[in-house]
Amino acid sequence: MYTQALDALGSLPTSATDEQALVSRFEARVAAEQKIEPKDWMPARYRATLIRQISQHAHSEIVGMLPEGNWITRAPTLKRKCILIAKVQDEGGHGAYLYSAAETLGISREQLIEQLLCGKAKYSSIFNYPTPTWADVGAIGWLVDGAAIMNQIPLCRCSYGPYARAMVRICREESFHQRQGYEIMLTLARGTPEQRRMAQGALDRWWWPSLMMFGPPDAQSTHSGESQRWKIKRVSNDELRQRFVDFTVPQAEFLGLKVPDPALKWNAASGHYEFGAIDWQEFEQVLKGHGPLNAERIAARRAAHAEGAWVREAALAHAEKQRARAAGRAA
Ligand SMILES: [Fe+2]
Ligand SMILES: [Fe+2]
Repeated sequence: MYTQALDALGSLPTSATDEQALVSRFEARVAAEQKIEPKDWMPARYRATLIRQISQHAHSEIVGMLPEGNWITRAPTLKRKCILIAKVQDEGGHGAYLYSAAETLGISREQLIEQLLCGKAKYSSIFNYPTPTWADVGAIGWLVDGAAIMNQIPLCRCSYGPYARAMVRICREESFHQRQGYEIMLTLARGTPEQRRMAQGALDRWWWPSLMMFGPPDAQSTHSGESQRWKIKRVSNDELRQRFVDFTVPQAEFLGLKVPDPALKWNAASGHYEFGAIDWQEFEQVLKGHGPLNAERIAARRAAHAEGAWVREAALAHAEKQRARAAGRAA
């Protein structure tokens, strides 16, 4: 486990005045766009917010490997299979960067993984939906990775250094993912009538869950205000959602597909698309664990963790052997 908590002891405030001075210094640094680094003093709530957000993000990357991983053995060509394997592997890498970023805040990877496996930790609601056709793989890349980029680009400027730096690399890879998804959709949309139907079906399934990925409306978002002040979250949920709709609707039109929203219309005066009401009850249900595949996703992660136990044990035994050898050489 990272030893940051011990390192920070020297700068613990000893009185309320000290604490106020530390808060003022911290807030001035954030306001001046300076990055906060792991050994810097930070308010307990800033640390807790980051642990919650970064770990939810890490879990989402890891659980997000499952809906597409489901299609690796059935990808239609060898080329598609290679691309999909690389994409799913990228998501595993994103999870690893993010768990490392969370560890710099004084929580161990074991604790983080335990929170996911026992069902305590949240992850993105979208990964609890099924992928019944190959077109769903295209729709995930286009819409889900597309929404992720929209959410994550502002995080590259997040005030916490390790998170911001992880996001720069992750965003570069997500943009490849988005393009590979769109290219699958384009191929299907230009294919046979059956392929076009498949593409439309996938858009119908993923459109609304993608809009939910930006989180509850600003008026109901419990964490947004403080996160914006501390420059963890720099753009509001509703603003990001609107950007996504404005960006994605013309792409659907180019594909010749219909966005499944009868209320969708262009508003020339505002320069934005207006869209219909989101079913927040469905979102709440999925978040509470009652989505189509919540139970299967956690069961799959638990099985993978149990099956990987021998790898973790072997790695620890190997590290122990190396340590003993080095100690023997030094003696
Ligand atoms: Fe990712
Ligand atoms: Fe991705």
